[in-house]
Amino acid sequence: MCGIVGYVGKQKAASIILEGLKRLEYRGYDSAGLCVLQGGRLDVAKKAGRVDVLVKEAAKHHFNGSTGIGHTRWATHGGVTDANAHPHVSSDGKFALIHNGVIENYSGMKKFLIGKGYTFQSETDTEALCNLIAYHYAKEPVVKNGGSRFLESVRKSLRHVEGTYGIAVLCLDCPDEIVAARKASPLVLGVGDQEYIVASDASAIVSHTQSVVYLKDGELVHLTPRTFSITTLDQADVSPVVDKITWTITDADLNGYSHFMEKEIFEQPLALENTMRGRFSEDGSTAQFGGLNLNAAEFRQIDRFLFCACGSAWHACLVAEHLIETFARVPVEVDYASEFRYRNAPLDRNTLCWVISQSGETIDTLAAMREAKRKGHRVLALNNVVGSTIAREADGGIYQHVGPEIGVASTKAFTSQLLLGAMIALYIARMRDMSFSDGAQYVQALKGAPDLVRTALKQAPQIKEIAKRYAKHADFLFLGRLSLFPIALEGALKLKEISYIHAEGYPAAEMKHGPIALITENCPSVFLVPKGDVFNKIVSSMQEIKARKGPIIAIVTEGCELPPGVADDVITIPDCHPAVLPIVATIPVQLLSYYITLERGCDVDKPRNLAKSVTVE
Ligand code: M6R
Repeated sequence: MCGIVGYVGKQKAASIILEGLKRLEYRGYDSAGLCVLQGGRLDVAKKAGRVDVLVKEAAKHHFNGSTGIGHTRWATHGGVTDANAHPHVSSDGKFALIHNGVIENYSGMKKFLIGKGYTFQSETDTEALCNLIAYHYAKEPVVKNGGSRFLESVRKSLRHVEGTYGIAVLCLDCPDEIVAARKASPLVLGVGDQEYIVASDASAIVSHTQSVVYLKDGELVHLTPRTFSITTLDQADVSPVVDKITWTITDADLNGYSHFMEKEIFEQPLALENTMRGRFSEDGSTAQFGGLNLNAAEFRQIDRFLFCACGSAWHACLVAEHLIETFARVPVEVDYASEFRYRNAPLDRNTLCWVISQSGETIDTLAAMREAKRKGHRVLALNNVVGSTIAREADGGIYQHVGPEIGVASTKAFTSQLLLGAMIALYIARMRDMSFSDGAQYVQALKGAPDLVRTALKQAPQIKEIAKRYAKHADFLFLGRLSLFPIALEGALKLKEISYIHAEGYPAAEMKHGPIALITENCPSVFLVPKGDVFNKIVSSMQEIKARKGPIIAIVTEGCELPPGVADDVITIPDCHPAVLPIVATIPVQLLSYYITLERGCDVDKPRNLAKSVTVE
């Protein structure tokens, strides 16, 4: 939930760290800090507020050392104050530490350390670990076999930690070294030419080097400007696997857009093309995936699917459920990952589990996956971030290939998940009862999705005008049915997370069982109204709202004739194949939320209280 970055090499560390923190700011943005080892001391600048506040503070410090660490925080333990910002320095002044995660047993540690004379300046869990490292370092001045005393103190301390961490540590006695480690919080090492950057994700690294090592849980890396070594908590040596980042820094830039969310909304046609590239069979009648590690015969044995995820990814699971059940006729269950991990759900032998997570680091989704695996189930994952923990631990999976998604509100990653859900439905359906010609038609429909999204995006100026008229309202309902019910949920989530307007998503017909009580002229409803079986039923729901003076924005597919007066504003999207409809219908709800948020002057890319990936419980 926080972003960490450390640099050791020949350049000035502070500017590289500050640039990295700006790139990682989407992970947490309530306070920021950095520490540079220079002039025989650990020089720390830290402030509550955004990285820009830290940049001003750092200017007062004349940082010129070439070893340093920095942190951008999403508070867990302790309020948003300068003192609680990271880095934390041990009370003997020897160690500085940054941390992403939660030290669950910190209070026992703290009590023990206070007993030993260590003092504390903050309310954080992190400071306890920092002092524990200092304690072990002081206690054991000599390390057997000529090992590093710094590294061993960190290793020893981490063995006492219950919880999660991605950390980077500086030691005053080792002026050009960093020790970093991870457990359930991501950590990537950038391997440069006599310089190394360790960070929570590759966006803080990619402008310096494309070569990276994705560290695994329980691994520690020891960096000097000349070399690095990776070992485990049990002191075993690890041979590093150096990967190449496949995107460039321009993919993580605004490139002329005002916000990442805006950029990522408009990137969706390209993102969808990248998601489906090379994933249709040669005969053009089904989907194919390289990394499932499950052959067709094994897949054919599955008679039930379980999907787990959080937030928008959970909405994508609901759409996948609808499409798999409709086209493949295989039962699907969808669970919140945070519930599944604790509810001891009965799963039968032929159930295949899927987890969906853009970041591949969401702690609840990771825990759900581990629980399913503990029960002996095979788990497949849909992830965007290459090398993420979920991607690595899953038995197989599919990458989304949409490039970095930086806006906290998920947009292009979500529609890419919808596309993959539709492709999985096709893959399973073709193994069962779907004919060759229906499969071929389905494939053609999916291939047409990027163009349909381009068409839907052309409504942006009209939606911007509509947004101006509705931005003042405090409550919204989003209503849809069948495959568009999850899109109603997604619309409500988008709106509330970035504009702070209270919004609820409901199946349109369910609205009369309670939410209709909210309807007044001040509570608008956004209806998703496709052509088809339930069109007339949805129109009836709209009439019920109109009868109670509720304003209505209708998102309709081309060719739908609404009765006069039933909607105040109408947004038209192209008519399309049912597998593509949820993708196309998502575009207007994203744009509506984006423009309403602009109108209200809220921070689109960094909404209050949120962070991009939730790596703590
Ligand atoms: O990285 P993940 O896909 O696992 O993230 C899951 C949710 O935290 C995420 O979708 C969240 O709900 C977004 N802010 C929605 O816009």
